[in-house]
Amino acid sequence: MEKSSRPPIVTIHGSADEGAVAAALELADLVEAKPDAVLGLATGGTMVGVYAAFVREARARSLDVSRVRTFNLDEYLGLAVDDAKRFRHFMELHLFGPLSIPSEHAHFPDAERAQTDAVGAARDYESAIEAAGGIDLQLLGIGRNGHIAFNEPGSSPDSRTRVIELHGATRADAAPSFGGLAGTPERAITMGMGTILEARALRVLAFGEAKAPVVERMLHGEEDPETPCTFLRGRHGDLAVHLDRDAARLLH
Ligand code: F6R
Repeated sequence: MEKSSRPPIVTIHGSADEGAVAAALELADLVEAKPDAVLGLATGGTMVGVYAAFVREARARSLDVSRVRTFNLDEYLGLAVDDAKRFRHFMELHLFGPLSIPSEHAHFPDAERAQTDAVGAARDYESAIEAAGGIDLQLLGIGRNGHIAFNEPGSSPDSRTRVIELHGATRADAAPSFGGLAGTPERAITMGMGTILEARALRVLAFGEAKAPVVERMLHGEEDPETPCTFLRGRHGDLAVHLDRDAARLLH
């Protein structure tokens, strides 16, 4: 990917809710202008407010979402298909269900196949994104360790979709929802940094004080594979970052 010198647009909102609404309004504008838009989606606490606001906005505008196609960033390996911790379940709950987005339009990397055929599962996900015409707008959260999707420390900027061992900090952050570390998945399948950087627009959201150090590194630090979010800033021509005051606390 060509390096781009266009700086990110950083907005510091008065609250996380305001940041979530800003991202949701942009999504709604995109779908209104392009009803068959291809959306790159993320899971996690940061996204709950974004999807709630998007559902409200889509209903208020009577948006037709029947032709939208979605590609989620990642999925854990080793969870049963009906496990409520699956990212597909999260998306059904917060977005696909409320807006009746057809399940055949909602794509996830194939975590079952990835257990025995990681290369095939990864290749087919990349091909599906390409066949859809690429991602118009990709939503991204950031891990406290600087991960983007599950591109953990050590990931390269040109990495592609693959199976990855989850970092200790990522598993520790997820452990409470899995009833402790022992029950927390050890692996996931994730879009790569290179895959993500090919999306036509990137929207990063980070809220809360715990994200402040990594936000500071993303926006002011040198590129560093130990903090993969540092690869976003200088490598994309359409990057916007939505923060609340707490997440922006260390910016100068
Ligand atoms: C989720 C994902 C992760 C999260 C990140 C932040 O699909 O890819 O990179 O975006 O871990 O998670 P929250 O929002 O829970 O702080």
